[in-house]
Amino acid sequence: MVSTDSLTTYVLEVILSHPALTCVFLLATLAAIHRYIRDSYKVDSFSQKHVFITGCDSGFGNLLARQLDQKGFHVIAACLTEKGAADLAAAASPRLKALPLNVTDSASIRRAVEFVSGEVGERGLWGLVNNAGRSVPIGPAEWMQSEDFTKVLDVNLIGVIDVTLQFLPLLKKAQGRVVNVASILGRLSLTGGGYCLSKWGVEAFSDSLRRDMRHFGIKVSIIEPGFFKTNVTSLDLIHADLKRLWNRLPQFVKDSYGPTYFDDYVKVQEFSMGVLCSADISKVTRCMEHALTARFPRSRYGAGWDAKFFWIPLSYMPSFVSDFVINMLLPSPKV
Ligand SMILES: *[C@@H]1O[C@H](CO)[C@@H](O)[C@H](O)[C@H]1NC(C)=O
Ligand SMILES: *[C@@H]1O[C@H](CO)[C@@H](O)[C@H](O)[C@H]1NC(C)=O
Repeated sequence: MVSTDSLTTYVLEVILSHPALTCVFLLATLAAIHRYIRDSYKVDSFSQKHVFITGCDSGFGNLLARQLDQKGFHVIAACLTEKGAADLAAAASPRLKALPLNVTDSASIRRAVEFVSGEVGERGLWGLVNNAGRSVPIGPAEWMQSEDFTKVLDVNLIGVIDVTLQFLPLLKKAQGRVVNVASILGRLSLTGGGYCLSKWGVEAFSDSLRRDMRHFGIKVSIIEPGFFKTNVTSLDLIHADLKRLWNRLPQFVKDSYGPTYFDDYVKVQEFSMGVLCSADISKVTRCMEHALTARFPRSRYGAGWDAKFFWIPLSYMPSFVSDFVINMLLPSPKV
């Protein structure tokens, strides 16, 4: 067996014996060092900065709110439910303010803007984190009706746009940051329903926003998490809804999938989500925190090993490669 040390020595010898390889190796090393140093510069006076986060009932938003609260930021955490807001306020410092917000309701957003405006005063809003999202209905496109798509698009895409537009004046005042939570499913359409569409939309909206708002000193970052254990990937929620979609299909459509398809689909999902989902959601909130605290935030953050080394590289492959890989992950109808 070859030890890691002798393998490293061998690889280095090969690289150093070819001038072209040596150059590439040195340039890559310099680029990595440059990126590391650039990433390490921070903005200061967190205690003078306000951050507004949507979707703080659970998951990434909830952890980020507590994390930034501990760092001394003034966190304004928006929750869909009263209970979410009360629980979070109880778990955080008195600095943190929790308020109810329904991102599909413009009047609710307007009330949040008024509240935040009173909190931040002339300083403006340093950070807006568009984190709220839902995944269901999610599943084969043929099982959906158009309102199943809009249920998800209204929250994940139109909600993000409405919240951002309404908060822009406060963000401009502070020359602040927008952090939008997309997904690796904004790079690769792994499944039907509104989720992937909404995340592709968030990518597109964020790219144009970043280019438009840079002239005003506003920076925009996109977070692309891989698979993490949150309510978005909760199999209980997804399966209960899949059952609803399947049960209402006409018999001839069900027949076209064969008698075992539904159960196979659920089983495969259980297995792959079990293997794929990481419980360490701090990998995602660390990226969000970097986007809010770094002097030079990145435009995109892949969060999680699966995102960085599998899904995002796969998204650059030709369609026949990604189709092959994705088809392997799902059962086929018995036609
Ligand atoms: C959010 O607002 C929409 C539109 O006003 C409404 O249909 C929906 O029921 C609200 N959701 C919750 C959880 O209050
Ligand atoms: C899902 O949401 C509920 C209600 O907000 C929460 O109690 C629960 O912890 C969440 N689950 C995960 C895995 O975040």
